[in-house]
Parts: sequence; structure tokens; C-alpha cells
Amino acid sequence: MIPGDGAGKDVIPEAAKVLKAAAAKTGREVELTEFDWGADRYLRDGTTLPPDAPEMFRREYDAILLGALGDPRVPDNQHGADILLGLRFKLDLYANVRPCILFDRRLTPLKDRTEKEIQITVFRENTEGAYVGMGGFFKKGTADEIATQEDINTRKGVERILRYAFEFALQRGLKRVCMADKANALIFGHDLWQRTFAEVRREYSEIESSHMYIDNLLMQMVRDPSQFDVIVTCNMFGDIASDLGAQLAGGIGLAPSGNIHPGRVSMFEPVHGSAPPIAGKNIVNPMAAALAASMMFAQFGWAAEAKAIEDAVRAAVCEGKTTRDLGGSLGTREVGDWLASHVAR
Ligand code: IPM
Ligand code: MN
Repeated sequence: MIPGDGAGKDVIPEAAKVLKAAAAKTGREVELTEFDWGADRYLRDGTTLPPDAPEMFRREYDAILLGALGDPRVPDNQHGADILLGLRFKLDLYANVRPCILFDRRLTPLKDRTEKEIQITVFRENTEGAYVGMGGFFKKGTADEIATQEDINTRKGVERILRYAFEFALQRGLKRVCMADKANALIFGHDLWQRTFAEVRREYSEIESSHMYIDNLLMQMVRDPSQFDVIVTCNMFGDIASDLGAQLAGGIGLAPSGNIHPGRVSMFEPVHGSAPPIAGKNIVNPMAAALAASMMFAQFGWAAEAKAIEDAVRAAVCEGKTTRDLGGSLGTREVGDWLASHVAR
């Protein structure tokens, strides 16, 4: 567990309560170790992600549960980038899986949409694209300044995320996969996406696959979310599409994510950030973190434990046992307790 900063420190202990309850119910044992990486540690001794951390996780751990990183005292969020993006890249966690599942129709901002109509999973490429940090400044700070930011797309990288999305659809019995890019403007990088998609989709003829440009995709997600089961896209577009999807399904208080490399140590986290203005006040919604723990169990193959957590969150939402963001009056810890006791039932 890496609670991190702010809201992360509020929600990770609650997720821990809930996941322990789910494991205990079926007689499983989960050993939790906490790492204090985050802004406090960074400001104290300069530590962000220790150089041996990725190797340690690969060798000694099954999964990482991360809270959030970000603190006003670190304006450039150096520690956040080192820890979060560092783990995604160094552990090669190439699939960022972000389910946007509506648990209760009252939670969507879209008029007259039902639970059945908003069940989208976004697959975001997580190790390439504009996030690789290649680029630089020339004549920085002058009137003639130039900044470059490279967008990296590799054949292997594109192919593996496309395949992962198709395989997920196949395993879950989902019918439709939509790939989104901007090949009409990004004529090299996203041409590679187009060509790779054309090849991979042929191997999955039982699945209805389609393509949309990213701008249209976002519009269509709002206009009619029921047309999507699985969306697969590049790193930056996936970042944006998954926030939009989260909002359609009740907001980031309920949105979990997995950073996955199949068969290797993977990392699970809420989509939300550290939320400095509301952190530490027992008001942050711990459900996204609990659902991240559920995704972690699902990845272990612990289907019953994963479902127990998801069922508890769904029940809490339907019964109004929620924090204020979802219209309830409970605190972070009270929601955590409620979920844990529901799971233990
Ligand atoms: C996310 C976040 C991160 C990202 C930021 C904090 C770098 O927005 O996990 O979606 O863009 O990947
Ligand atoms: Mn984001």
C-alpha cells in the first residue's frame, strides 16, 4: 500500500479494512505492507521512488494499492510523477483499465439513462504516447522559446493494448470494442494505430469492432453511452475519456483503475487525485479505493472476494450509505466500516 498524499491517506486505510474483510470471509490471508512515499517524505529527505522499488515489487509482492499523489507544497508534482508514472513505466504496466459502471441511475448526470446503458470499460495504453517524457526546451524563458514533446507509438505497444482489450471483451462476453485515435491529424503515430487495429480486429471476428476519432468518441459517450462496451485508446486520450466516463457513472468518487501487466505485479488505484481542499476531514469517498481493491482481487482470480466488495459498494450506493459527494451524510471512515461489515455479512 502506498497511501501517498491527501485523500490517498484517507481512502487507503478504508480500502484496507474492506479488502481484509473480504479476504477473511473466505479464509484467505492478505499481508499488507505500507510505504510512506509521498510529499511529506519527499520534502523531508528527497525520496520519491527509491531506485530499487520496481525490482522489489516484482520480486516480493503480488500487487500495489496506491492512493493518490499531489501536494500544493510540491508545485511541479515531481514526487508524484516519479512514483506514479515511475511505477507504471518501470513495471511495464501497459494496460490501464478503467471501468465506468453505473451502479444507480440517480448518479448519472445524463437524463433518463439507466444502469444497463452505462457499462463501459476504458482501456488506456499506459506506457507510451505523450507520457514518455521525451522532449525538451530550447531558448527557455526567452521570447524565442521552443518546447518539444514527443509522442511515442510502438508497434508492440499498440498491439498489446489492443489485444488486451479484445481479450477482455471475449472473456466477459462483451460484444463491442471501439478503438479511438486521431489518425486524421496525427498522421504517423495514429496511422500505426489504424494499421495495427486493422490486423488485430481480424483475429476477433466474433467481436463487433469499430473505430471513432477521439473527439467524436467523447461526444458519442455523452450522446449515447449505451453504444459502448469496451473502448481502447492511447495514453493521453485514455486519460481524458476515462475521466469523462467516470463522471457518466457517478463521478470520480466511484471510479477505480488497474495498471496491469498480465502475470506480473500490477497496481490498483482510484482515478481521483489527492484533493487537497477536502483531504484529512473525513469527507472523501473511499468507494473508488475499495473498488480498486476489488479489481486487484479480480486480477488475482479471487472472483468471490472481488464481487463481495463490488456488491457492498452497490448496496451502499443504493441505500444512500455514502459520503456527501453522492448525497449521503456519512464520513469516509463510516463508509469504510459500512462496506467492511456488508462484506463480512
Ligand atoms: C491519472 C492522472 C495521471 C495521468 C496524472 C496525475 C499524471 O490524471 O491517473 O489519470 O494523467 O495519468
Ligand atoms: Mn487522469
